[in-house]
Amino acid sequence: MLSVRDLAKRFGEIRAVDGISFDVQDGEIFGLLGPNGAGKTTTISMISGVLAPDGGQVLVDGQDVWARPKQVKRLLGVVPQEIAVYEDLTARDNLVFWASLYGLRGAQRRAAIDRALERVGLADRAADRVRTFSGGMKRRLNLSMGLIHEPKFLLLDEPTVGIDPQARLAILEIVREVAASGTTVLYTTHYMDEAEKLCDRVAIIDHGRILATGTLDELTRLAGEGELLRLTGSFTADALRERLGALDGVEPRRLADGFALLARRPDGPGLAQLLPRLLDAEAGVDDVAIQRPSLEAVFIALTGRALRD
Ligand SMILES: Nc1ncnc2c1ncn2[C@@H]1O[C@H](COP(=O)(O)OP(=O)(O)O)[C@@H](O)[C@H]1O
Ligand SMILES: [Mg+2]
Repeated sequence: MLSVRDLAKRFGEIRAVDGISFDVQDGEIFGLLGPNGAGKTTTISMISGVLAPDGGQVLVDGQDVWARPKQVKRLLGVVPQEIAVYEDLTARDNLVFWASLYGLRGAQRRAAIDRALERVGLADRAADRVRTFSGGMKRRLNLSMGLIHEPKFLLLDEPTVGIDPQARLAILEIVREVAASGTTVLYTTHYMDEAEKLCDRVAIIDHGRILATGTLDELTRLAGEGELLRLTGSFTADALRERLGALDGVEPRRLADGFALLARRPDGPGLAQLLPRLLDAEAGVDDVAIQRPSLEAVFIALTGRALRD
């Protein structure tokens, strides 16, 4: 487990990280979601032992990062926000350099490099100079450097910034595979869709403070709105309206013949009670698609502004 306790860092007057605490459980993908300037990179830098905190503590499997830097750094793989690769070297030579810093030599180093390149899908480009790589490939190489010593924890700081959507999806897939192979992941992003798609739990950070932590379900409940239900079928708007009149806990947002959008009130009956009544054979409802309220709604509820502002 990776535990962050009351961690704090100021730069002059700016409280970049203002007393944050969270636990990343073994095996999970934990997201730190917040806008630019929220304090994500400062947090990662303190966890990885490159920036000294003003206060608080980071414990990695119970060991203090600052008291036992050598032991702890072995457990951590860090993928920095800024791409840290040498453009004039080949992908393999970048990894040789990196692996050497971890004391890997000879056949062991070669195997580690092959495995790292394989994991990020760059095995066939190992001998090419990095300057010939696309932005997405550079990001993947950057990621492979964090994996070279097979760390127990992988810290990724906004690993998809500045690349095209397809390259983003490739990175997300790699992170999923890394997590599935048993590595615990701490993932920072300002893209809520990434947090939604990728993370088991998310902490929302803004102005150096954590506003909420939880699973997607737990967080979206905070927004004070339940799921949106999209109904399609052979019903008429009037017939469905009449039916809904007898149903507690859903509010129609849009109602037309054959299509309806309903919001479930979070204080009303749960989906398990609502769905059978909506899908009753006589109702003419063929399909119900359930859409959770987004993290965007949660962020607005917590801060009064949109995440992308
Ligand atoms: N080395 C630094 N010197 C002064 N201010 C900094 C420094 N690093 C970060 N900051 C400030 O701290 C705040 C948090 O920054 P950062 O951790 O980089 O946020 P994020 O990674 O979430 O975008 C911002 O206001 C940023 O301008
Ligand atoms: Mg940052």
